[in-house]
Amino acid sequence: MEERNLIGSAIEARKKAYAPYSHFMVGAALLGESGKVYQGCNIENASYGATNCAERTAVFRAVSEGERRFKAIAIIGGMRDKKPNYAFPCGICRQVLREFCEPEQMLVIVARSETDYKKMKLSELLPESFGPDFAR
Ligand code: THU
Repeated sequence: MEERNLIGSAIEARKKAYAPYSHFMVGAALLGESGKVYQGCNIENASYGATNCAERTAVFRAVSEGERRFKAIAIIGGMRDKKPNYAFPCGICRQVLREFCEPEQMLVIVARSETDYKKMKLSELLPESFGPDFAR
């Protein structure tokens, strides 16, 4: 899967963002080892703390469909009426991604458009992480 196609999928997912409180719209596209792509958007709540980020929506969707190992995620986010800037995943989403990937392999792409993006490994965003091997 081409990086720009994964970003295209995140851009499409962002259109579904439910963000009536922050107006910060986020889309994510998560690439599974099977080759399947899982989209997610942020879903806010009147009780703000119940909000779910786009990245976690994508992970939970994928895991609930039976996929548990991931290779890459593309993320695009920004205020509703502005051009997106690089939107890095929050700490909770980094940890949730950590559960289901190899941090040295997992590619995180933060995009402003299909052609303007930064990419890094999850291990760079979450060094010395606590993962499943420690807990079981
Ligand atoms: N948000 C995400 O969807 N992903 C992140 O990694 C950071 C924040 C959402 C949550 C909330 O709906 C809005 O962006 C503002 O925080």
